[in-house]
Amino acid sequence: MNNLKTVVVTGGAGVIGSHLVDYLLKIGYRVIAIDNLSSGDRKNLPANDNLHFFHMDVCDKETRKIYESFQPSILFHLAAHYANELSIQEPEINLDINTKGTLVQLEIARRLGIKRFVYASTSCVYAPLSQAMKEEHEIIPHTPYGISKLAGEYYCNFYSKMYDLPVTILRYFNSYGPREGFNEYRGVVPRFIENAIKGLPIIVTGNGNEKRDFTFVKDTVRGTVLSAHMDEGKNQVFNIGTGKATTIRQLAETIKNVTKSSSPIVFSDRREWDETIEREANIEKAKQLLGYAPKYDLEQGIKETVDWYETS
Ligand SMILES: NC(=O)c1ccc[n+]([C@@H]2O[C@H](COP(=O)([O-])OP(=O)(O)OC[C@H]3O[C@@H](n4cnc5c(N)ncnc54)[C@H](O)[C@@H]3O)[C@@H](O)[C@H]2O)c1
Repeated sequence: MNNLKTVVVTGGAGVIGSHLVDYLLKIGYRVIAIDNLSSGDRKNLPANDNLHFFHMDVCDKETRKIYESFQPSILFHLAAHYANELSIQEPEINLDINTKGTLVQLEIARRLGIKRFVYASTSCVYAPLSQAMKEEHEIIPHTPYGISKLAGEYYCNFYSKMYDLPVTILRYFNSYGPREGFNEYRGVVPRFIENAIKGLPIIVTGNGNEKRDFTFVKDTVRGTVLSAHMDEGKNQVFNIGTGKATTIRQLAETIKNVTKSSSPIVFSDRREWDETIEREANIEKAKQLLGYAPKYDLEQGIKETVDWYETS
């Protein structure tokens, strides 16, 4: 085995996970990717001698044996049952994977003396708010997904305090980008692109004035890697977004322009479970402590995403 430093990415075949794997390989790590391929795809991962893929479940304690043989320094825990809509249909599976899976990985991390455990949490833990959300803002998740991810945060905090395991909690805001294929449980970006390309109506659930902080996946990944490397990221919670809110109507129009689509934008009822009218990240903490600065504006990010759709 060569002397490269090793890191683990759980959920490594997923959308954000696979971009994270690419980035880590590029900056010279050996990467162990763990994924049960329930929503991820092996094809998202490159052929690379420094990448070791294991088709395993994060709830499986045997993952420890894999890690033991590679001695990783950082564990990026991204595997999850994703996201709100699916969690309403499968709340128990969601709890098992998101909360128990996190607990299993934390326990392994502390036993192996991992130097940093990075946990992919979500902006869905926040209570609704009509201004940019700060890390100390009130927490009231309103779906099983938000609840199970928040429980994961609490376990991270417990392991940090009780066992001195260095943890970093990241609350991602609407990450989107290439490799996110369309299906009914995924985010609004692939749904709109799919319909725009096919010339079908772009269906907005709500009046279109709802706001989200759409973050291009490469920015999400840069924030993730920065947080793991900086001492300032230790035992902290960070919002990883852009700090800019976009209305769903603007998103639909941007996608129409980029795809040169003539699809009509139509409006339907809000989804019953979705209590959040506006969700925008305040990213000052990540900017100041980590030097994080998103590079992609919405149009650039959507262009790269559409390119992937049109060529894959
Ligand atoms: N995409 C977003 O906007 C967003 C927002 C907030 C938080 N997050 C979090 O970021 C992480 C990555 O999200 P994503 O968008 O890449 O989703 P994704 O579904 O593409 O990735 C999740 C990956 O985890 C794998 N997985 C699921 N259950 C597993 C299990 N039991 N064992 C091993 N692997 C398992 C899936 O196969 C998939 O590859 C998740 O933790 C998610 O909760 C994402």
